[in-house]
Amino acid sequence: MKKRAVKKAVIPAAGLGTRFLPATKAIPKEMLPIVDIPTIQYIIKEAVDSGIEEILVITNSNKHCMENHFDRNYELENRLMESGKQAERDMICEIADMANIYYVRQKEPKGLGHAILCAKSFIGEQPFAVLLGDDVVENHGGKPALKQLIEAYDAVQASIVGVQTVPDEAVHKYGIVEPVRQMNGRRVKLSSMVEKPKLEDAPSNLAVLGRYVLTPEIFDYLETQEPGAGGEIQLTDAIKNLMISQSVYAYDFEGTRYDVGDKFGFIKATVEYALERDELKADLQAYLKTLVETF
Ligand code: G1P
Repeated sequence: MKKRAVKKAVIPAAGLGTRFLPATKAIPKEMLPIVDIPTIQYIIKEAVDSGIEEILVITNSNKHCMENHFDRNYELENRLMESGKQAERDMICEIADMANIYYVRQKEPKGLGHAILCAKSFIGEQPFAVLLGDDVVENHGGKPALKQLIEAYDAVQASIVGVQTVPDEAVHKYGIVEPVRQMNGRRVKLSSMVEKPKLEDAPSNLAVLGRYVLTPEIFDYLETQEPGAGGEIQLTDAIKNLMISQSVYAYDFEGTRYDVGDKFGFIKATVEYALERDELKADLQAYLKTLVETF
């Protein structure tokens, strides 16, 4: 079988961001910054660092500022030049040159599976990656989460979902996989998957955490997929159905994952990413210590 490289990615970003209202009334949640970088920029950097060359962002009518962020801004560039701020100018230019980014609108909020279906003609007949904007993954000094998944895909040439073990109380928030055998190593073949199960119905504690590599046959299943959990067309259900005709694997990726779609997860990411910054680390550490003593 001819090997097909994973060079395209899809980033669904058409959600309403209701968990972050009022901040997301006029600003897409993907533009909320962790320290000073919008969350979507971390996601796009992970894709680029993983070898992705073309990215399709699924948007809705409220996401213009995301497109502006990844475009050139000549007025700002000129002003920065005139005031001698060359480093800042270079930095904003680099953002526009990160990758070939395309946009398509999801016209109705029918769920993640429906959002991915909007990418069908962009993807064509190639395997592709999906990265969810609520899941930011940091793997200090190691390979990006998506790169790990793409390497696992290269080994098996089959769809593969990125998972990590979550505690019992979190199982109902995720797509949960059913491995064919006990996990031994990082990769395992799957026999089923279920979206947001009750704990008593969950086949494992291995949750899908926002990273996928999928074969294009997924679109055949998405096209006919009936609404599932929450009345939405679920990607999880289509991947489960894909298992009827193809093998699907899970890969337990390395790295710390932050649920930045959740307020507490967002605060944790902000504090930890700030502690990684040379210009902030000492002051923030000292401040956190005083806070601990005060409360
Ligand atoms: C989505 C997916 C779910 C996955 C989760 C990861 O759910 O449907 O399978 O586990 O992302 O963050 P959402 O959080 O959008 O409800």
